[in-house]
Amino acid sequence: MIVEPTAATIAEAAKLLREGGLVAFPTETVYGLGGDATNERAVAAIFEAKGRPQFNPLISHVLDAGEARRYVQWNQTADKLARRFWPGPLTLVLPRAPNSPIALLATAGLDTAAVRAPSHAVAQGLIRAVGRPIAAPSANRSGAVSPTRAEHVAESLGDRVTLVLDGGPCRVGLESTVLDLTTDRPIVLRPGGATREAIEGVIGPVALSDALPTGDAALKSPGQLKSHYAPGRPVRLNATSVSADEGLLAFGPHPPAGAMLTCNLSPSSDLGEAAANLFAQLRALDRPGIGRIAVMPIPERGLGLAINDRLRRAAADDGAGSGG
Ligand code: TXA
Ligand code: MG
Repeated sequence: MIVEPTAATIAEAAKLLREGGLVAFPTETVYGLGGDATNERAVAAIFEAKGRPQFNPLISHVLDAGEARRYVQWNQTADKLARRFWPGPLTLVLPRAPNSPIALLATAGLDTAAVRAPSHAVAQGLIRAVGRPIAAPSANRSGAVSPTRAEHVAESLGDRVTLVLDGGPCRVGLESTVLDLTTDRPIVLRPGGATREAIEGVIGPVALSDALPTGDAALKSPGQLKSHYAPGRPVRLNATSVSADEGLLAFGPHPPAGAMLTCNLSPSSDLGEAAANLFAQLRALDRPGIGRIAVMPIPERGLGLAINDRLRRAAADDGAGSGG
């Protein structure tokens, strides 16, 4: 059931979570499928509802750095980053704290844990009302496109989720940046809503996991399997022209003519607007009658890094389909 977030529905959602149930809720990045991060059975229910392989660890959502310190071994770099980016679209991977209450299943047996303080008021209200960290992957079936509206959640998960808090369209529209702080030089495991440039402005040079040997990167962030963000039909990148059986995902003021259907990520070439539209437009183009989705080139800077990362995954058809 999709409900408007009010004091009453948030209290109801918090009660469901404390009892081990699942609730879908809005964050500024994408909608999350939340469960009590300290409850192994609730976390297992998340994997089950998503059809997600259990080796893929989850992010624990917290209110602030003070709370995160109880779950992970905090350090100075984390502190600098949290001051600049929290609450916001940056997830930090740190060693689990001794006696961390985070369920082992939530960190998939790793000795690290991922934490993030979302900036969405509904997400914050829910975390506060539950009084526990909320484990939440994106609220879609595994391998599908992340939901940026409450209706997407209902379409993807159906009655696997009893309650969806409707916060309207997500402001950022792309998942958080996942940054591993357990190595000497921090590694961007997943590009996302916080740009590499902005992160480097605070802590200096970071590495990109794409630059690591494939096996290493896969091990470090198991969610980053190639076909993670897969629409149902083939995706063709860097399209400068388009054919009549294609749907066009355009960018900028001059899309080529002739597509069966065109969605423009940002007619004014604004990467923030493009990020916010990405998943909803991929969904809109992923429909019967359209043979293939053609995507215009997007600049590889700022949020373009994360947008192109998602598009390359959507285009890769390795049939694994076992991501988040
Ligand atoms: O924006 C977001 O991050 C959204 C909203 C709901 O917060 N959540 C999200 O969660 O995208 P999910 O589960 O779809 O993606 C989490 C990513 C995965 O790539 C996973 O492998 C990585 O974070 N991750 C989680 N814990 C990790 C850990 N301990 N070490 C390395 N990677 C980790
Ligand atoms: Mg996901």
